[in-house]
Amino acid sequence: PVPNVQALATFLDKSSQFPERYVRPEAKVDQLARTNKVELPVIDFSKLIDPEFSKEEAAKLHLACQEWGFFYLVNHGVPEELMEGLKADTVEFFNKPLEEKMLYKQDNDGTLQGYGQAFVFSEEQKLDWSDMFYVVTLPIAFRNMKYWPTSPSTFRDNIDRYSLELTKVASYIWQYIATNLGVAPQVFAQLFKDHPQAMRFNYYPPCPEADKVIGLSPHSDADGFTILLHVNDVQGLQIKKDGQWVAVSPLPNSLVVTLGDTTEILSNGIYKSSEHRGMVNTENARISVAAFHSPNNSIMLGPLPELVREGKPNYGSTSYLEFMNAYFEQKMKGKRAVDMFKI
Ligand code: SIN
Ligand code: FE2
Repeated sequence: PVPNVQALATFLDKSSQFPERYVRPEAKVDQLARTNKVELPVIDFSKLIDPEFSKEEAAKLHLACQEWGFFYLVNHGVPEELMEGLKADTVEFFNKPLEEKMLYKQDNDGTLQGYGQAFVFSEEQKLDWSDMFYVVTLPIAFRNMKYWPTSPSTFRDNIDRYSLELTKVASYIWQYIATNLGVAPQVFAQLFKDHPQAMRFNYYPPCPEADKVIGLSPHSDADGFTILLHVNDVQGLQIKKDGQWVAVSPLPNSLVVTLGDTTEILSNGIYKSSEHRGMVNTENARISVAAFHSPNNSIMLGPLPELVREGKPNYGSTSYLEFMNAYFEQKMKGKRAVDMFKI
């Protein structure tokens, strides 16, 4: 067990001895990234689904996927009232006393569900400056309600509704990604059958020595793509672009879409999953909700035959479950599984 970071941060000030396990020299080295702001491509979902503008917007989506692996999604159709409700509930949940949040604490059952800290696997490991709360949201039959907070009273219902709204958005995005790649949309529909989805609520407390710590270690996501919601307007997401860490600011009413390793492999490397990380500041807690959209557990993961030239794929193939094992194994070494599968 490792400390709850929110509780730790409460007792820490400039005069206390800073806990060594959170000190990350690399955070200091690229402080510059904080001021290196970039504008991600903006994809307008309402245009994407409008026959009159679809072609042009889909072309923008293709470029965003090729050159960034990241984009803002605006006019996504998720009701504003729902987003505001979910944000308010998330803030309220994290502001509850520790004992109450611990009612939903992670079990040691390997599913990672519940409240706690991400990816703690050894005594020596450096730790991230964040707490999180993770639940499987879809398919509905896979939900384990013991991890779903009953307070605030609207939280469960808002998670449920948000989860279903995002699935609608995600299905459309898959369709356009398929078409952009020249693959039949049914192929993607089959790969993402039952729409497996999970959500991680991230809480990054402020840190008196923010330039010493990392909120969430660099990684690329394993899934097809992740839809990220900024719960408050605090900046902290950084992405690696052309070898440099750059800061992504929250854009009001937008969602941030991140391509994961699954999409990189399926697309035979036409699209790349991008490395990103979470950073913290001295003043304000940062809160985000990441919704992971994964392929069906039963699939074989490898480059789609339609995208392989002359019988030479750029990545090996494996079952998705095996890929996930490799993902966590490599993560412990600070590496990316997707690189292991490159041929
Ligand atoms: C994530 O990588 O899952 C979350 C990053 C963020 O909080 O912006
Ligand atoms: Fe991520």
